[in-house]
Amino acid sequence: MTHTIACVVGARPNFVKIGPVLAALRTQAPEIQPVLVHTGQHYDTAMSGCFFHQLRLPDPDVYLKVGSGRQGEQVAKILWKYEYWLVNARPRPEATLVVGDVNSTVACALASVKMGIPVIHLEAGLRSFDRSMPEEVNRVLTDAISHLLLVSEPSGRENLLHEGKQDSAIRCTGNVMIDVLRNQLPFAQRLNQAGKLGLPSGRFCLWTLHRPANVDDAPILNKFVVAMQDVARRLPVAFPVHPRTRDRLRALGLFEPLIRCPRVHVLEPLGYLECLSLSSCAKLIVTDSGGLQEEASALEVPCLVLRSNTERPITVAEGTSTLLGSDTRQLLEFVDEVCQGRYKHGRCPQLWDGKAGQRVAHAIKEFFAGAGISPLGRVGEEIAQAGYIATGAR
Ligand code: UD1
Repeated sequence: MTHTIACVVGARPNFVKIGPVLAALRTQAPEIQPVLVHTGQHYDTAMSGCFFHQLRLPDPDVYLKVGSGRQGEQVAKILWKYEYWLVNARPRPEATLVVGDVNSTVACALASVKMGIPVIHLEAGLRSFDRSMPEEVNRVLTDAISHLLLVSEPSGRENLLHEGKQDSAIRCTGNVMIDVLRNQLPFAQRLNQAGKLGLPSGRFCLWTLHRPANVDDAPILNKFVVAMQDVARRLPVAFPVHPRTRDRLRALGLFEPLIRCPRVHVLEPLGYLECLSLSSCAKLIVTDSGGLQEEASALEVPCLVLRSNTERPITVAEGTSTLLGSDTRQLLEFVDEVCQGRYKHGRCPQLWDGKAGQRVAHAIKEFFAGAGISPLGRVGEEIAQAGYIATGAR
């Protein structure tokens, strides 16, 4: 018996995470047919197309073309378009797999569950406990309505149990992003992106910044730009600029001065391989990205995080991250620690072993086989009993 599962991606980090799942489903569970749905939340070549190409992802089966928008507007557009697609899809998917914490994640989870189609959340349970972050709201809501919760680090399971989720609905599958990293590292290193940019391997800082809390607030963004120039006096800086950050820097007149700063290499958003090529031979990463925090720990590269909290605490407890918020004085002290070899040594967390995709495929297979968990879950059962929709999931 074949089963159909819609696998939703929308934004840059999702593209990276879905590859190992599709590959493992293909080899381990050929009876499960994935339908790849791209919402179009990210649409530029640099933010989307390039990732499909480099990671050899199949072309999406469905493209919803939602584009950018305000938070609510974007979520609403995705929800509406995904529901419309689900209503008309033949065969109708028996489950929706959503990944991470972006607007596409919560919107498709909600559309799916309202149609009685169960949701599987990959990278469930992560919590920053900071509801001012759009991603935290997305995480909490998605987990609340998901039927199978696949977690990447132990805190995920603890948080979900604390929120009253059944242990039987949780699987510790590990970190699929690190599967990709391990696979692609030799190719990324061969690219020698640092050499191409004239950066000394092992002696430069990779800096990224895109969180609304950091880039939408003019004084904070200004402070980071000053700090970047200070860091550049110690180590050359590679700064790939997210479109949101570029727009804010331009609006504040900060972009041109940065471009003129000789030891700051201002770059377009990087493809996956180019970014890994740089991160793997950086002396130091300064970032507000959750994904890069995890990659830095897997690569054992020091990572100074421009946030005061993290939904990935294992990268601080066991890995190479230190949380700094917007304290740029401390940032410079830590940069000195790194340069002088005094910074802590972190290690790659357990289950970040390159086999997470296989564990995810196994968990999905079990889910369809009905082992230990009702395929529809409570929400789906209620909706199905109310006669709203008949699904093939039972
Ligand atoms: C989104 C995710 C964030 C993730 C990040 C990775 C949410 C709430 N946030 O943030 O968790 O870390 O992706 O990049 O889902 N833009 C382009 N081209 C594109 C896409 C966006 O130029 O292909 C510009 C648009 O001006 C847009 C802005 O970037 O308004 C922000 O894009 P959006 O998808 O809203 O959020 P991100 O900041 O990228």
